[in-house]
Amino acid sequence: MVKVSFNSALAQKDVKKDAETLIPEEDKDAEAALLVRHQSRAWCWCMCLGLALMLSGVVVGGAYLYRYYVLEEGQVFVCGVNYREEDFMIQEEDEVEMEQNGFHLRQVEERIRVLEREQVELINVPVPEFDDGDPADIVHDFQRRLTAYLDLSLNKCYVIPLNTSIVMPPRDFLELLINVKAGTYLPQSYLVHEEMMVTERLENVEQLGYFIQNLCQGKETYKLQRRDRILGLQKREALNCHKIRHFENKFVVETLICEP
Ligand SMILES: *[C@@H]1O[C@H](CO)[C@@H](O)[C@H](O)[C@H]1NC(C)=O
Repeated sequence: MVKVSFNSALAQKDVKKDAETLIPEEDKDAEAALLVRHQSRAWCWCMCLGLALMLSGVVVGGAYLYRYYVLEEGQVFVCGVNYREEDFMIQEEDEVEMEQNGFHLRQVEERIRVLEREQVELINVPVPEFDDGDPADIVHDFQRRLTAYLDLSLNKCYVIPLNTSIVMPPRDFLELLINVKAGTYLPQSYLVHEEMMVTERLENVEQLGYFIQNLCQGKETYKLQRRDRILGLQKREALNCHKIRHFENKFVVETLICEP
């Protein structure tokens, strides 16, 4: 009896509960839904906050990288240097006078990027004002210890070992440029001549490093050698020469590139 009544009571309860639960369980659902909504709102806030933090991180990081790469690393200097024509050829007297009065001052202008981390100097010489040579793009790669000239009139590339007594190391050159820009150092410079001979044609520019490969890819590329290192010089008149005037130091260099 007890068992039955218990059972029946349970059963009744169950039934009752079943009957009851139809309504209050909706309430519970609503409560649960409310809870879930609260929770999801909290999550949403968390997400939003997280996203905002992430975005601000990206913005700050981006700004930092921009500063680092574009301003520090890739800052383009446009720089002009005045220099005296120092031709040691026979000069007429009035010409000497003119030079003394400063009439023989010339200017060479360049666009310069110094990549300090990569140890590379990238130089663009625009078309000179007084027919003082060819426009050119120049790469000095201190890691590869190579210099490449791209003569923009001929669209030909010339590669030679880097001469560190002519080309300032990137850090020093950058410092010089910053000083020039700040006006603390105004270059009044002179001209140094160097003569190069075209020797052999280079078929593969891939092993010359990223920057020179970038410069010379798809162009006729030749090796150069200093003319004073070559025995049995040809007469200059027989040569076809082009000059590029540039600077990567306190003086201006005229690089004469001659083909036999
Ligand atoms: C570097 O340039 C200077 C000045 O033109 C020259 O005297 C010297 O021989 C050159 N050095 C090399 C290794 O070509």
